[in-house]
Amino acid sequence: MAAQTMEQLVSLSKRRGFIFPGSAIYGGLQGTYDYGPLGVELKNNLKLAWWRANVWEREDMEGIDASILMNKLTWRYSGHEETFVDPMVDCKGCKMRWRADQIAGKCPSCGSAELTEPRPFNLMFKTQVGPVPDPESFSYLRPETAQGIFLNFKHVLDSTSRKLPFGIAQMGKSFRNEITPRNFIFRVREFEQMEIEFFVKPGEDEAWHQKWVEDRINWWLSVGLSKDNLVPYHQKANELAHYAKATVDLLYRFPHGLEELEGIANRTDYDLGSHSKDQGSLGLKARVAPNSHSTEKLTYFDAETKQHVVPFVIEPSAGVDRGVLAVLSEAYAEEQVKPAPADRLKPVEEALGTFLKSVSRNEKLTADAKNALLAEGERISGALGERLASITGLLSMPGAESIEVAKKLRGQVDPVVDEFYRTVLHFKPRLAPIKVAVLPLKKNHAGIVDVAKGIRRRLQSSGSMRVVYDDTGAIGKLYRRQDEIGTPFCVTVDFDTLGDGKDASTKDTVTVRHRDSMAQERVAISELEGYLREKMG
Ligand code: GAP
Repeated sequence: MAAQTMEQLVSLSKRRGFIFPGSAIYGGLQGTYDYGPLGVELKNNLKLAWWRANVWEREDMEGIDASILMNKLTWRYSGHEETFVDPMVDCKGCKMRWRADQIAGKCPSCGSAELTEPRPFNLMFKTQVGPVPDPESFSYLRPETAQGIFLNFKHVLDSTSRKLPFGIAQMGKSFRNEITPRNFIFRVREFEQMEIEFFVKPGEDEAWHQKWVEDRINWWLSVGLSKDNLVPYHQKANELAHYAKATVDLLYRFPHGLEELEGIANRTDYDLGSHSKDQGSLGLKARVAPNSHSTEKLTYFDAETKQHVVPFVIEPSAGVDRGVLAVLSEAYAEEQVKPAPADRLKPVEEALGTFLKSVSRNEKLTADAKNALLAEGERISGALGERLASITGLLSMPGAESIEVAKKLRGQVDPVVDEFYRTVLHFKPRLAPIKVAVLPLKKNHAGIVDVAKGIRRRLQSSGSMRVVYDDTGAIGKLYRRQDEIGTPFCVTVDFDTLGDGKDASTKDTVTVRHRDSMAQERVAISELEGYLREKMG
C-alpha cells in the first residue's frame, strides 16, 4: 500500500519532523520547504544511495561539486536565457498568475475565464553579484546543476585522464522561479538535483541512452519504488527540450497523479559544442548559437582515430525532493493491527460526522482549507474501519484545530488508533532515517537503563547506523512511534536481559522487534551488531 492522498504525507511529515513549510512563522514563502530532523536523514540517505551506486560502484564515473553561481554567459550559451520560459497568464478577476498550459482557459482560484494573453516568463532567479548595483553585474541562481559539469569537462578530463565513455556526477541545489509551485515538495522553487552527464563517442549515444534508462529504473526499484508505480514515457518530438534528440521520462504514481520523477535525455553534442570556441571547426551535429566568449574547445582527443571529437552526452537527471516524495509515498501504509469491535468504532464515527458538519458550517475557514478537510473527511468515512488511523492526519491539517469539536474527535479516536491501528513507513532499511531504537522496558530501573544506554552507545559508535534511545512512553506506544517514522528495528531491554526473569538462558539477550512483520526474537547482546548489519543488507 502507498499513500492515497498528499495530505497523509504532509501531515505525517509535519507531525514527525520530516518536512516543514518554509518560513512558517512569517506566513510562509510559497514553493519552499525545510527538511526537519528525520527528513534530512532520509534525504541524505537517498543521496548517499545514489552517489554510491553511480560514483563509487562504477568504474566510469567521477564526481564534482560546482558553484551555484556561475558566469552569466553560461546561461546565454546553454540556451536558458532565451528558452527557459513558461507561457504565463494573469487572471483579470482575482489577479492570480498561472501557467497557461496548466489551467485549460479558466482561473483555478476564482473560475474566471477573463485571462490576459500568454506572455513568456523566465524561470531563472536573477541576482546581483558584487557590491555595486551596475546593470551588468548580475548572474542567475542555477536552474540545473548540469551546466557546472559541462563547464568543468576539460578540468575533469585533464586531471583524471579519463577515456570515453565516462561520466561526471553531481548533486546540489537548483532554483526555478516556478509560476505555480504546488503538490508539496513536488514542484518547488528551491530543490536539489542528482545529475549525471555521461560522455560517449558520437554514434554510441543511442545504445548508451537505452542502457541508462534501464539502469535508472533498476536503481529506483532498489530504493523501494514498485514496478507498478514507475512508468517510462518517451517524449514526443514537440515535447523535447531545446538540447535533446530524445528523452525518456521516468514517471512515478505520486498521490496527485502520474508525473515526472527523472528525465533521461540524449543531449547530443549540443552543450559541449555551444560552450566551445571555434565551433565551425568541430563538425557539430547540433545547431548551436555562435560563441564569441569561450576560451576553450570542449573536445576529446580520440587516440585511436587521432582526431578531436565533441562527445555526445546522455543525461540522467533526477530530482532529490521528488525522490524523497516518491520514497515516502511508496513506504506509507495505514494498517489495522487487529480488528476494532463495532462498539469502539461507533463513537468515533459519530464524532467524525459532527466534526465534518462543523467544518462545512464554519465561516472562518478559507475555501481551500475547508475543501481539503471535507474531502479527506469523506474519504475516511467512506471506509472507516480501514482508514480510521487517517483521522490523526485529518486533525493536523490546516484549520482543523480551530474547529471546536476537534478535541472531542481526538479524544475518541486516539485510544482506538493506539489499540488497533498503526501508521507505518516501510522504508528499505538503508533509507530509514533511524535504523535502530533502543527501548528500556522500565525507564526508572537503573540496571535496565544502564544496559540499554550502553547498547545504544556501542551500536552508534559502529558508525554504520543512526541509533536512538527512547524512553518517553510505554513499549507499545514506542513501537507505534518508531513504526510511524520507519525505524526497521526496535531493541528492548527488559528484566530477562538482566537475568531476573524466569528463564536464566535469556540473560544478556534483548528482544529485537521487526517493523514490517512485528515479529519479535531474542538475540544475544554480543551478537546484536552483526545480526542487525546482516538484516539491514
Ligand atoms: N538538466 C536537465 C534538467 O534539469 P528537468 O527535467 O528540467 O531537466 C530534472 O529537471 C529533474 O529535476 C526533474 O525530473 C525533477 O525531478 C527535478 N525538478 C525540476 N524542476 C523541479 C521543481 N520545480 N521542483 C522539484 N523538482 C524539480
